[in-house]
This record gives sequence, C-alpha cells and structure tokens, in this order.
Amino acid sequence: MGSRSVAVRLLAAIASLTLVPMTALALPKQVGSEQRVHWPSVTSKVPRDPAIEARIERILSRMSLEEKVGQIIQADISSATPDDIRKYKLGSILGGGNSAPGGNEKAAPVEWLKLADRYWQASMDADWSGEKIPILWGIDAVHGHANVVGATVFPHNIGLGAARDPALIRRIGEVTAEEMAVTGVDWDFSPTIAVPRDDRWGRTYEGYSEDPSVQRAYAPAMVEGLQGRAGTKAFLGPGKVIATVKHFVGDGGTAGGRDQGDNPSTDEQIRDIHGAGYPPAIEAGVQSVMASFSAIGGVRMHGNRALLTDALKGDMHFDGLVVGDWNGHGLVPGCTDTSCAASINAGLDMFMAPDSWKGLYESTLAQARSGEIPMARLDDAVRRVLRVKARYGLFDKPAPSKRRTAGQFALLGSPAHRAVARQAVRESLVLLKDRGALLPLSPKLDVLVAGDGADNIPKQSGGWTITWQGTEVSNADFPHGQSIWAGIQQAVAKAGGRATLSAAGDYSLKPDVAIVVFGENPYAEMVGDRPTLEYSAADKKDLELLRKLKAAGVPVVSVFLSGRPLWVNPEINASDAFVAAFLPGSEGGGVADVLFRDAKGRVANDFRGKLSFSWPKRADQTPLNVGDANYDPLFAFGYGLRYGEKGDVPQLSEERPAPSSTGADGLYFARGRMPPGWTLTAGGGATIRGIDRRAQEDSRLITFTGAGEQSSALAATQPLDLSRETNAQLSLIVDYRVDLKPSGPVFIGMDEGRVPVTAALKSATPGQWQTLAIPLGCFMGAGADMSKVMRPFVVASTGALRLAVSDVRVASATVPQDRCSL
Ligand code: BGC
Ligand code: BGC
Repeated sequence: MGSRSVAVRLLAAIASLTLVPMTALALPKQVGSEQRVHWPSVTSKVPRDPAIEARIERILSRMSLEEKVGQIIQADISSATPDDIRKYKLGSILGGGNSAPGGNEKAAPVEWLKLADRYWQASMDADWSGEKIPILWGIDAVHGHANVVGATVFPHNIGLGAARDPALIRRIGEVTAEEMAVTGVDWDFSPTIAVPRDDRWGRTYEGYSEDPSVQRAYAPAMVEGLQGRAGTKAFLGPGKVIATVKHFVGDGGTAGGRDQGDNPSTDEQIRDIHGAGYPPAIEAGVQSVMASFSAIGGVRMHGNRALLTDALKGDMHFDGLVVGDWNGHGLVPGCTDTSCAASINAGLDMFMAPDSWKGLYESTLAQARSGEIPMARLDDAVRRVLRVKARYGLFDKPAPSKRRTAGQFALLGSPAHRAVARQAVRESLVLLKDRGALLPLSPKLDVLVAGDGADNIPKQSGGWTITWQGTEVSNADFPHGQSIWAGIQQAVAKAGGRATLSAAGDYSLKPDVAIVVFGENPYAEMVGDRPTLEYSAADKKDLELLRKLKAAGVPVVSVFLSGRPLWVNPEINASDAFVAAFLPGSEGGGVADVLFRDAKGRVANDFRGKLSFSWPKRADQTPLNVGDANYDPLFAFGYGLRYGEKGDVPQLSEERPAPSSTGADGLYFARGRMPPGWTLTAGGGATIRGIDRRAQEDSRLITFTGAGEQSSALAATQPLDLSRETNAQLSLIVDYRVDLKPSGPVFIGMDEGRVPVTAALKSATPGQWQTLAIPLGCFMGAGADMSKVMRPFVVASTGALRLAVSDVRVASATVPQDRCSL
C-alpha cells in the first residue's frame, strides 16, 4: 500500500473517531438515522447518463401498476414458464443452483441458449401498456459459468484469495462473462465479497479472505472483469454481463458461522470488516447488490432500512438495483415468502421469489394499491431495474441467441480459457510443509497417486458446480476438465517416469513417492456448516491411508482439498509434504505444474499461494482471524512456503476435542451411528434389528407384522430447526431395501407430516439397495412444523413389510419439488 493511501486511511480513521460519538456504540441498533454509523461517500465510475435517465422516465410514465410490480419480481426457471412471463411481465428470472433447462442439470449449452430466447421472446410478446421491457436472466456463475456442462471451472474464491493477484481475478471475470454470454445469460450473482470470520460456516470457500484487504483489492477487479471497465466501450458491451456483489452485508460474521444466522458485530465492524469490499465495487460501477439472508443484531438484512437505503443508496450513492436472496424477504418479521412490503420499503428493489412469485405479485400489487408500499418507493425500485437494463443495453439488444458472442459454444472450456484457470490453480496452491525438501518432485520417478480425490473432478470443484451442492456429478460431466491424477499422469509420462493410480493406495512394487489427494466432499450453503473444524471427524480412512504409506517407508505428499482451513494435525504429521489446494476446479493439471520439475529437471513453477485464512492449531479454535488478540494459529494468515525455504513442521498435537452433540454433517443415521442421545426405535408390535450392509451393524431391518398401524421413528434429543433446509428445497434422503413388499399403505414422515411411499416400495426390486428422496416441503405441506422437528424420520405401515434402512440424511437431491407421493 502506498504511503499516500496509508495517510488517507489514517485520516479517515481519525475523522471517524472524532465524528462518531462514543455513545453510538452503546445505542441499540436501528435507532434513527442521525446516530447511525456513516459509510464512505463513493463516486461510481458509471455516471448518470441523461439520455438513459430520460428514457427510463418515459417508460416509467407509461407503465401500469401491474407492470411496475412485475418488474420488481424475479422468479426461478423451475417455477415460472415463458407463458407466465407473457402474462405477469416479470422483470427477471433466475436459474438457481438446482435449476436447468427442462430440469436437466446436464443439458447441452445450446438448450440454455434456447431457453434464454424463449423467456426473452415471452417478455417481448407481452402486451405492454407502453414500451416493451425485455427480461433479465441471472445465474450463480461463482467460479466460472459452472452451472453449465463444459464451462471452465475456476478455483473457488478461497483459493483465489491465496493467489493475491488482482490482475488474474480480472481475467477470470472476463472469461466467466464471455462464457455466460455464449449461453445468453445476462446477469451474474457474483462476486461474493463476504469476509468469512468463522470457518465453520459452510460458505467460507465463497469468500476470498478473512481479512478485508483482499476483498478491497479483488472486488473491483472482478466487477470490472465481468462488466468491463466503466468509461470504456467495453463496459456492459458484447461478451460482458452485469455483476452482483453479495451478500450485503455481514454474511461472513454470523455467530458460530451459522449460515443465514445473526451477526453480532458492532456497526463499525460491519462497515470496516464485512462491508470493506462494497465501496470499491460501487466505485468500479457494480450494477447490482444482493441483500443477505443474515441478520445484524437481530435485524434481518432484507428489512434493514439503515443499511439497504441509508448506507448503500445514501452514503455510498449506489444507483443500481438491490436484489433479494432466495425468499430471504420471508425471514423478515411479519413477512412470508408471498408477502413482504417491509422489504421493499426497507430498500429492496427486486424480490428473488423463486417459487413464491405469484403470491408475491398479488400481495405486492395490493400493497401498492393501498399505499402500504408508497408509490415513490415503488417507482424508485422500478427506475433502478430499468436503469440497469438500459445501461446493459437490453432495450436495444436482439434475442439472446442473436447477440454478438452468443452460440459460440467452442468458447466454453476453450484452451485459452482453461489456461487462465490452470494458472489460477498454480497460483492458489499453498505449501504448508515440506520435510527435507521432498518437493519439487522429479517427473522421472515411480509415482503412486492415491486418495479418493485423485481422479475426482467433482470433488476438486466443490459446491456450485453443475448442481447446487456439487453432488450427483461425475468426471464424465466435465468434457474439457482434467482430474489432478490425469495432470500428474501427463507430466510424468512426458518425462519418462511412471505414474499409477490407486485410490486405496495399493501397489505391487514399492513406489518412489506417493501423492495422496483427499479432503472434503462438495457442499454448499448451510449444508456445509460444521460444529468444529475437525476434518472428517467420523471417518479417518484418509489418515489410515497416509499412515499405511508412511509405515511402508513411502514418502508422502498430501494434496488437501477443502473449502476452508481444517484441523488436520494428524494428517500433517503423517505427511512429508502437505499442500492446501482448496477447491481448484476443472483444471487439475495445475497441481502437477507446481509439484513436479519439468522434463529437463528445471523448476518451472514455484509455489506462490499465501494463506488468506488462518490455519487452526485446534479443532475448536474458532473464530480465528489475523489481528485477534492472542492470535495463535498453526499457520498464520500470509503463510506459504516457496521452494528452497525450510519447510519442516515439528510433530503436532493430535489431541481431539470432545465430540459435539449436534447432528454431524446433516447425517442423521449413517454407518450405524446417530448423533449422541438419538434413538431409532420401533413400536406397536414392529421390531427392529441391526444388519450389515457395507460394515457390521451399519443398517437396520424393520419388520412390520401387519397387525394394524405400526411405526418406527428416529428421535432427536432436541427439536431441529429445519426451516432453512426447507426453504432451500433440501430433501430427506433414505437408502432402503425392501425384503418383503408391503401388503398395505406405507408412509414416511417427519413428526406428523406424512408422505405416502407405498407405490415406490411395492415396485422396488426385493433385496436391492435403493435411494429415495422426499422434498422437505412435502412434510411441511402435510402438517409438520419444520422449525421444531423432533422425529426427523418416521416409517409407518399398516400391512406387513420388511424394510431395511441405511443412511438417513437431509441433503440436496435434484427431485421435482412437487412430488409428494412416491
Ligand atoms: C444464495 C445466493 C444465490 C441464490 C440464487 C441463495 O440461496 O444465498 O448466493 O445467489 O441462492 O441461487
Ligand atoms: C437453490 C439454490 C439456492 C438455495 C437457497 C436451492 O434449492 O437451488 O439456488 O441458493 O436453494 O438456499
């Protein structure tokens, strides 16, 4: 940082110290705007264009009330059809994490483009009272256009944070925008500029760093990459998309790292830590800001006028649009998913109403008529939506497929784009340990490549990849991608060495070295929340593999895939070298680029990555952030070895924390185990006994005798709040085997909410393990109170039935949400 900006910051700090009365700290939140903490005054590089403003005013003056309300609602493609758009004239659609053309996550890119045309055409066909208003399509291209099969998948933000390279970030934004434009998508819900402060949070990997200096540098770079530089011809021109900074504000600071939780920070911490990326992003011209699900001091962000209006639009002069997050308005006290004047009145300009749009349209219309939503506020919201559309040139653009770079499918995962991603992988790797300078390796060695992450592109890509959770995906879904193993194999083969893949680490001839790739399985949002930072608390198979190799005298290089720093002391002890690779994405070859010398024996690529998050010494050491009093991490913020630096790590403590009592990892019953205190019992004459599926006693066989209704239930020790999971359309997923088909009706339920499954069980092949998924919304619809579930799994049968059950869990499944009878 230059001395001038240090001086400026010091001055700003002194100014805020003198201007903010000390009593402000003691006042309750949401006091009158006089006492609130002020945010920086920002001048956007995108000036008000008088021609655009005049055009907006003209359109606005000719719009009916219905059309105005439609403009401020965004529906999901899985619930609103092009015909709905024709009728309701909604302003926008989104493709959520599990939404895709025809419900097919693996749809060909051309299908995305065709669908974009259909929605656009519907908006143009609509019978407008004044001028036609084309629709905007938004998507979560949070690490490349990764919803679409074949796109370039970049490392998740946590890895990019380690690269400390704003120019690279800008380039990634450019590539992402180009690939989005190929499929006709206009608007990216990215970059996430959260500052994750408690790594138990399931979205930690979506953040660049725990220290806002990184967001300050990256936010404008990514915005300019996606949108083009304000003031140049490129700005929102062909091949560019609208960027969104999210989630405003405080998402990364919730207590306990609970997703969508409450952030207890002071107003100054909200501004200076969690909000640090917003002023530079707004200055760079970002056109949309997404409100956060989370609350601050108990006030939900979707209803927080002081921040959405006074700070964002007032202090920072943001004149683009504030979009909500996935029914986030429904969390505001007094609101529901289908009615929330309070959000619009607080400053939201567009509801994200995936499945709730129709009810929301009716209620918002009524509230605008009654004056509960003042006309001036509605007009301001519509103006902002129209302004963003106009700046993006939407009124003058042809159908999505006719736009300049549309339909050039060869750009998706093109060699040039993949080269940028591969560079990003190289730059994001952080070397934590290198005993006796084991690295870099010679590619002429006999190399064993092991671990379940070695040949696993979904695992190296993490959540928000093709599907929302990044699950239900395989290597075949990455036609241009390369696994870490494939990259190693290529490098070694080229130099005349030998590489062998064995996930289990088996070999016949002792190898010279083993590279073991392991780590977290993909997750997104609340599904990734964890009670502690212990890596894989319930399953130590990776550690056993490392120890087995070590015991055999094979030098071990660990490549650790994770969405956050985790407590891996035993794994580090069992490794000679340890690389934090985070979630590198589709270009696994970048790992071999750094681990190996080139064929001529030269070091082509040194490690460059520096931790952008502090690495814990203990599993319960959270929150842990640079700048803390008594800061005592295992590896500090900024740590990262280079070749030639002394890299041994002394033997680390392997003492584990006491097991936590919360349901681990969203698994209710798995491998024969349940959270402490939970029970799985049968009553009314039904019986239950342990059986073996993959391991001893890892499953249960429930026998219903047919003498009237009998049931079996999994009982929790405390009520479970599954409302977030229900809103997120997660499902109850059960592995089952029918040993005797039911002779009467069968239900699966949560508490009193029961769903019939008779047909599925009757048609099941006896003796074969299968999986069923029931959307949580079905239990809610059938009467369960999802905010306090005591029995998250109940089976009831009137007839005779022998049913074996194995893993019972709440997770994401791409099943139709309205299928409430199986
Ligand atoms: C997430 C957002 C995302 C939106 C649309 C929400 O659940 O919090 O980050 O943009 O869904 O998929
Ligand atoms: C959607 C995501 C969304 C999430 C909300 C999922 O069902 O697919 O896009 O972010 O729900 O939490």
